[in-house]
Amino acid sequence: MNAATKQSQSAISLDQFLALPDFEPAAKQVLPHPVYEYIASGAGNEITLTDNERAYDRIRIWPRVLNDVRSVDTTVSLFGKTLVSPIILAPAAYQGAMHPLGERATVRGAGRAGIPFVVSTNTTVAIEELIKEARAPLWFQLYTQNDRKITENLIGRVETAGCEGICVTADTPVLGVRTRQLRAGFQLPPGVSTPHNVRGGGASGNMDPSLHSPLQWEDIAWLRSLVRTKLWLKGILHPDDADRAINLGVDGIMVSNHGARNLDTMPATIDLLPAIHERVAGRVPVIVDGGIRRGTDVLKALMRGATAVMIGRPYLYALAVGGEDGVARCIDLLTRELTYVLRLVGQASVKKLDRSLEWPPLG
Ligand code: FNR
Ligand code: LAC
Repeated sequence: MNAATKQSQSAISLDQFLALPDFEPAAKQVLPHPVYEYIASGAGNEITLTDNERAYDRIRIWPRVLNDVRSVDTTVSLFGKTLVSPIILAPAAYQGAMHPLGERATVRGAGRAGIPFVVSTNTTVAIEELIKEARAPLWFQLYTQNDRKITENLIGRVETAGCEGICVTADTPVLGVRTRQLRAGFQLPPGVSTPHNVRGGGASGNMDPSLHSPLQWEDIAWLRSLVRTKLWLKGILHPDDADRAINLGVDGIMVSNHGARNLDTMPATIDLLPAIHERVAGRVPVIVDGGIRRGTDVLKALMRGATAVMIGRPYLYALAVGGEDGVARCIDLLTRELTYVLRLVGQASVKKLDRSLEWPPLG
């Protein structure tokens, strides 16, 4: 439990939060400095951290008028199931350091909105506890361990518990050069542990290299043989890697640069998405994350070919300031913004978004 918040989290009225960016300054007030820095920081000089968001600002939307937008449809289909919205909560470690209820509050907030939550291997609440609270799909994000038996048992455990997907993180052979996080001295607070990651994935949030082994392509066939639900590969940034993953039987691609937390000066994910979308050519769903803060960002990601998007930091800040209610508020604000921008661009369904709404028109 994180008892070290600077100000009572229950004293914060959520009405003051009108957009996702509002949550960060409030979270900075309530979180211990090291925990805030762990969430907020990126790798290196944080060039990509900034660019993940600025890249969305550079995209211009070209609306059409007088279409019938009296009602809008934000539902998307994923593996034959209908999601109420194209918004998913990204995996994020150590939420028990951000709020006393940690992932338990997050799963409740996601459940109220009916959207999937991807639980990190470094969850501070066991998956069986989270499944009891789940009112929407739970997927599980996997960091493999050197001891392959541990990984095999973990996949079996979380799928038996009811997780509907395994999201294998491919972009973290080691954690990045996280100068800000290290300078802040982030450590798991006393009493906060990670039931699914032996020795907590490293007290400072660093993966213990003696435990966490970098994946290789031949491991994907092994993971495919183990995963009975849907197998996602998270951290894909190159069309060739997306193609190779699909040919190995991966069910879904997550275009992600880990929230710019590992390698600095990579392109922004929204800039890489079109080429990957083109190469995937509809064979599997593509999710994108990184820098999504506004309804217009969600719209732009879907215009560029994403089936859905994931958000990270915004819901963590909302968790810190408001727990379950904060997470629900965060999701509601983004979903509401999406419905507004759909009407304003003249498109009633997220399923029909494409780059014809982007200016200047493609050459
Ligand atoms: C993450 N992310 C992450 N990813 C992953 O695969 N496993 C993990 O345990 C974590 N942990 C984690 C902790 C924190 C504090 C953050 C901010 C992020 C990355 C996350 O899933 C996602 O890719 C990014 O957060 C998306 O970018 P935005 O929305 O934070 O800009
Ligand atoms: C992080 C690791 C835990 O981004 O994925 O902090």
